[in-house]
Amino acid sequence: MNVSDTLAAWRTRRRAIDGCSIGFVPTMGALHRGHSSLVERCRGENQVVVVSIFVNPSQFNDPSDLERYPRPIHQDLALLQSLGVDEVIVPSVRELYPNGYRFRVEPHGSDLVLEGAHRPGFLQGVMTVVRKLLNLVRADHAYVGEKDYQQLKIISEMTQEFFLPTQINPCSTVREDSGLAMSSRNTLCRRRPMTRLLICSGL
Ligand code: PAF
Repeated sequence: MNVSDTLAAWRTRRRAIDGCSIGFVPTMGALHRGHSSLVERCRGENQVVVVSIFVNPSQFNDPSDLERYPRPIHQDLALLQSLGVDEVIVPSVRELYPNGYRFRVEPHGSDLVLEGAHRPGFLQGVMTVVRKLLNLVRADHAYVGEKDYQQLKIISEMTQEFFLPTQINPCSTVREDSGLAMSSRNTLCRRRPMTRLLICSGL
């Protein structure tokens, strides 16, 4: 498994896999069984599996939320290796946003419902980073969970409307025995049981 932590390293790897069918799973790390299911499907349908781990600052409207977002990078890399991933991209904020947050993908006002209404800037940040990652990876297929359904819909539509060559594949939600959808943020809930309901219901 190759881990690229600079864009120069990734571009070298991208040239090496040119001509193969490429599947891509974008993540913010803190991986769980939901992510594993995306990677497993991607593994079954493509010659090369690429995963990105990037905690995207532009989709957080609360700095303390960004600060406490879990980042167990060694654990994540071990899991990805065990799943047979070929390429992992772990870019820096400086490289993905070289001029700060200067150019953005702006959703239409009619998209600002549900999570888009309650987390100002969230959809804009997601679409902007996903667009950047899709441009860098140039995958044939990308795998996105249905858990964040509005995010999935907006990514699919944005990809089509910007004529990006990647097909977005929706993947079913994986749940805990309790029925709770698996989420990286659930570890925050486990650490802070008193706030579990509050955090899990809002995020
Ligand atoms: O769902 C996520 O993990 C993130 O929103 C995504 C799609 C990786 C963009 O940062």
